[in-house]
Amino acid sequence: MREAFKADPGRASRYRIALDDLTMDFSKCAIDGTVADLLIDLAKAANVETRRDAMYAGVAINTTENRAVLHTALRAPRDATIEVDGRNVVPDVHAVLDAMGEFADGIRSGSITGSTGETITDIVNIGIGGSDLGPVMATLALSPWHDGPKAHFVSNVDGAHIADTLAGLSPETTLVIIASKTFTTIETMTNARTARDWIVAALGEDAVGAHFAAVSTALDKVGEFKLSEDRVFGFWDWVGGRYSVWSAIGLPVMIAIGPENFRAFLDGARAMDAHFAEAPIAENLPMMLGLVGAWHRLACGYPSRAIIPYDQRLARFPAYLQQLDMESNGKRVSIDGKPLETASGPVVWGEPGTNGQHAFFQLLHQGTDVVPVEFMIAARGQEPDLEHQHQLLVANCLAQSEAFMKGRTYEEAAAQLRDKGMDEAQIEKIAPHRVFTGNRPSLTLVYETLTPYALGRLIALYEHRVFVEAQIFGINAYDQWGVELGKELATDLLPVVKGEADGSGHDSSTVELAGLIRKMGR
Ligand code: F6P
Repeated sequence: MREAFKADPGRASRYRIALDDLTMDFSKCAIDGTVADLLIDLAKAANVETRRDAMYAGVAINTTENRAVLHTALRAPRDATIEVDGRNVVPDVHAVLDAMGEFADGIRSGSITGSTGETITDIVNIGIGGSDLGPVMATLALSPWHDGPKAHFVSNVDGAHIADTLAGLSPETTLVIIASKTFTTIETMTNARTARDWIVAALGEDAVGAHFAAVSTALDKVGEFKLSEDRVFGFWDWVGGRYSVWSAIGLPVMIAIGPENFRAFLDGARAMDAHFAEAPIAENLPMMLGLVGAWHRLACGYPSRAIIPYDQRLARFPAYLQQLDMESNGKRVSIDGKPLETASGPVVWGEPGTNGQHAFFQLLHQGTDVVPVEFMIAARGQEPDLEHQHQLLVANCLAQSEAFMKGRTYEEAAAQLRDKGMDEAQIEKIAPHRVFTGNRPSLTLVYETLTPYALGRLIALYEHRVFVEAQIFGINAYDQWGVELGKELATDLLPVVKGEADGSGHDSSTVELAGLIRKMGR
């Protein structure tokens, strides 16, 4: 890579593309003109553009569930027409957004109160997976815009999560949102019933309606909570859970930041949708991000990638992307059910910088595996008084990507030690430990500052990247049978854990562990 930069003074600008202020520099990945051309040919051969158009048009590209994949419709303008089974879904999308806006305004202004007439000061979103990760991530990311009630999120079926969350809250001033696409997910239903008991114990059965709202595609299942119609917000089976933050699943975000800012969030995603639809492949951010990802996975054989936002408010972005990417592209058979002959999605992981530097960057610099890194950095922080801290953040981000690319040779390490006065025998011993091979690929995404619009655009970039990679891998990114298995098994094992069934049909390790835990837990 050092040689590539030396040989080509235009390298940085050749491998840098942008949509407005959102800029991607992938010049530190080992890509040259031939590779770039071949990757573009690969995208053409995989019909990525035709398939993208099919997705946008509402074709049922999720073939194992026979569903359209239309998260793009969730941010379509009011006057757009997108048909599913002959019906324009855009008016339905905007009807729900309008209803959410009215409800959010009511809660934020205090015109909608709790059962005792008190203003709602806290909202608790109960959901898991796509019904949790998007709202959690976005609420944290947009904290400078957060002027509504405080938002809390409960996802884990571990009673500690809901107990710790409710412990600090008062039932009179709390609104609970039950968020579940299917309204059957055991974690969410269990936590929702615990929250219901908490409200009933403090305020009585009649208070439930005033302290709950629900978000689901299965509106018929919401009955148990006896909610009035204006507290139940629907979405549709053509929205995947991990692609649903733009739908009614985004209600806690909207209540936190207000409907206007939520619309700006949708606008950002819409700008990326248009760019993905229109820009030629070589200048198209999701296309090139996907192709670089496919290059690293398929050609270079790297098994994982690290997402490192140098933006503390994007702290949950890696976790969000884990579901988005790994639940989508963690597949072993092709779209027509044949075992894949090449790899599919990589392991996705990460933490914000600079914290990661003091934890796992050692392995990234000198470990035996190469892990491509995706850096994110705002040109401007949100704290004008702390500009010096932002400059330090930028310097760290750029220094890391430079170090990954350049490394340090044995001669450089030895020269440094010599300068410090070390003798040659010692240098021979120590210098090998101070060598960095370099050639460790990274790309950097830069944006002006993290606004609702910028966040919407960034998430949509990654949604479409996952799509591009799925087309190259030849898989269906929109089902998740692997997760369904876990759901079935847990339901089946519960009687064994409780000691109500002997566990026949289960293996001896599982049955004996259940017995051990039961005995120890008494
Ligand atoms: O984790 C599996 C999954 O089906 C995700 O795809 C989904 O986001 C999550 O469970 C929650 O499902 P639901 O919104 O139906 O409760």
